Amino acid sequence: MPPRYAEVLKYQYINHMKRTLITTALPYANGPVHIGHLAGVYVPADIYARYLRLQGRECLLIGGSDEHGVPITIKARNEGVTPQDIVDRYHKIIKDSFEEFGISFDVYGRTTSDTHRRVASDFFRRLYDKGEFVEKTSEQLYDEEAGQFLADRYVTGTCPHCGNEHAYGDQCEACGTSLNATDLINPKSAITGSVPVMRETKHYYLPLDKWQPALEKWILEEHKEWKPNVYGQCKSWLDMGLQPRAVSRDLDWGIPVPVEGAEGKVLYVWFDAPIGYISNTIDLVGEKEADKWWKDPETRMLHFIGKDNIVFHCIVFPAMLMADGSFNLPDNVPANEFLNLEDDKISTSRNWAVWLHEYLRDFPGKQDVLRYVLTANAPETKDNNFTWKDFQARNNNELVAILGNFVNRALVLDHKYFEGKVPACGPLQDIDIKAFEEIKEAVVAMTDDLENFKFREALRQAMNVARIGNKYLADCEPWKLWKTDPARVATILNVALQICANLAVVFEPFTPFMAEDLRKTLGIDCLSWDMAGRTDILAAGSQLGEAHLLFEKIDDAPIEAQVQKLLDTKKQNELKAWTPEPVKADCSFEDFEKVDIRVGKVLECSKVKKSKKLLQFLIEDGMEKRTILSGIALSYPDPEVLVGKEICFIANFPPRKMMGIESQGMILSAVNPDGTLTVVGPTAEVQPGAQVG
Ligand code: 2FM
Ligand code: ZN
Repeated sequence: MPPRYAEVLKYQYINHMKRTLITTALPYANGPVHIGHLAGVYVPADIYARYLRLQGRECLLIGGSDEHGVPITIKARNEGVTPQDIVDRYHKIIKDSFEEFGISFDVYGRTTSDTHRRVASDFFRRLYDKGEFVEKTSEQLYDEEAGQFLADRYVTGTCPHCGNEHAYGDQCEACGTSLNATDLINPKSAITGSVPVMRETKHYYLPLDKWQPALEKWILEEHKEWKPNVYGQCKSWLDMGLQPRAVSRDLDWGIPVPVEGAEGKVLYVWFDAPIGYISNTIDLVGEKEADKWWKDPETRMLHFIGKDNIVFHCIVFPAMLMADGSFNLPDNVPANEFLNLEDDKISTSRNWAVWLHEYLRDFPGKQDVLRYVLTANAPETKDNNFTWKDFQARNNNELVAILGNFVNRALVLDHKYFEGKVPACGPLQDIDIKAFEEIKEAVVAMTDDLENFKFREALRQAMNVARIGNKYLADCEPWKLWKTDPARVATILNVALQICANLAVVFEPFTPFMAEDLRKTLGIDCLSWDMAGRTDILAAGSQLGEAHLLFEKIDDAPIEAQVQKLLDTKKQNELKAWTPEPVKADCSFEDFEKVDIRVGKVLECSKVKKSKKLLQFLIEDGMEKRTILSGIALSYPDPEVLVGKEICFIANFPPRKMMGIESQGMILSAVNPDGTLTVVGPTAEVQPGAQVG
């Protein structure tokens, strides 16, 4: 028995007894989802749910859109539509693209549903009736022009912790600190741009400090097994000491606070959103059955989230659940770090992202490739990076060259020698036994990794199974034995096909479309995890489907198109961020008159040897020809384009020698936002030598 096998059995023993409720962070319905969301939350959650289902373990994968909150109202205001229009639009885009991508939600709900409104209201009311809130009147920021209070993203200002001038009223994205709007230095309304005033308002606070001891015991003592990034963040919050947290807002978009005296107030989006997990479960299975999933100790709950959501899922939501007293607490919160794109932080506002719905349009039928790459590069322990070159390389060198190649070879050989029927297995030789042993070890390691949310490593083990298959065929060389020993070839191909069947099973959580294709080709009725590692999945004599490629090579052209799209985005962002230099100190007319600016015609223009920056111009200046050197070579890789053009130059600078050449003036050029230079000249033809003034 391989050494880790006992461990694996232990997990199966503990977890088999329990059903599993898997929740995935509800994305805000104010934009589509991108690869960062997928890598951080939805792909890992889907892998885990598929793995449990393959094991026959009872589980639910709960998802949905988060449709309240200030970013949605800001977007609606900017577009001149209602918040409902915004969430209707994006809920559909998000839901459809998840479905097409194979995220196997049992339910994908929304927080504007009637069920959710009722469940969230009831939740608040129960806590209110139990006296679990503290009501407090305090001074909050108020925009007099817009006539409303400013909370969360409605206000920006300078972060008191890191000095970032663009921090939001709920969080500073530069240093990650969670803020209150009143913490901001120099606050400014995001609605009107005006400086807010302070005005009194009453809010309902959840006293997190009351739950501090219980949270400390539950997390710090009882959940030491949580991922270090999650445990560490919780510990630092707890060490700082928890404070009461306002769970209501003065807004007109959200679920009304369902108590008297709270007119005009809605639930804070982070109060209602996690309750969405409960309401979406109710929508799926009904109220009574939902209790089984939320209150029965035989159910374990897992929250799949990104690292920016840790405090809400490990501290705030559990405190709400503790205050209610009838719900289970999460067993684990396997939060991931962030994924970067081409070495830059993914950003919705800068459009620096690969959007799922666009990927599905640009790479139709290639859902598995992105699923594979995002898992192979998953930001499980640290931030990670997605590049289009790596995407192409992993497809071509791994999915095509290792996995697809092995399955194709096994099927083609079987069709050639045995008309596509599974040949009978004769006596096994050492090489056959060794291949199966290695596969069993990979399966054991993979099971252990999947149980512990180490999906990157589990995927590596799955690809190892294909590597083992490739090596097996290469070592056995059945094509050389066919004439002399067809019975041995039958055994070799039986083994190779059993390995293909193993691949269909172990890849199902990661690349479900390929697994389904392979399952059908191999004629397997239904995949299950206990097939993994087995040597007799396919019965001798059963008919296989035609051999075909599971993955296609991706050429350079579509990759270059994606890279170009990002370069264009970068350029647009630079343009948007650009502001002209401040105007210099006053200059008198007399001073200006001293500078003799003239128009000249470029007769020759070439690079100066041994200089990266200098171009040498020969200028027709109406008097005599003159040579001018200009440090603009990087902006003009092809200097010939300037020949024949009229340009402006300063004619009365004293001559200066550079690289052994005398320059008799200075060419005028404009500095572009990206730092490149453009030579400046008249807008219509002018006589060379004409003075500019
Ligand atoms: O960060 C976000 O995108 C939030 N909309 C996540 C909410 S998770 C849950 F609480 F619903
Ligand atoms: Zn900051």
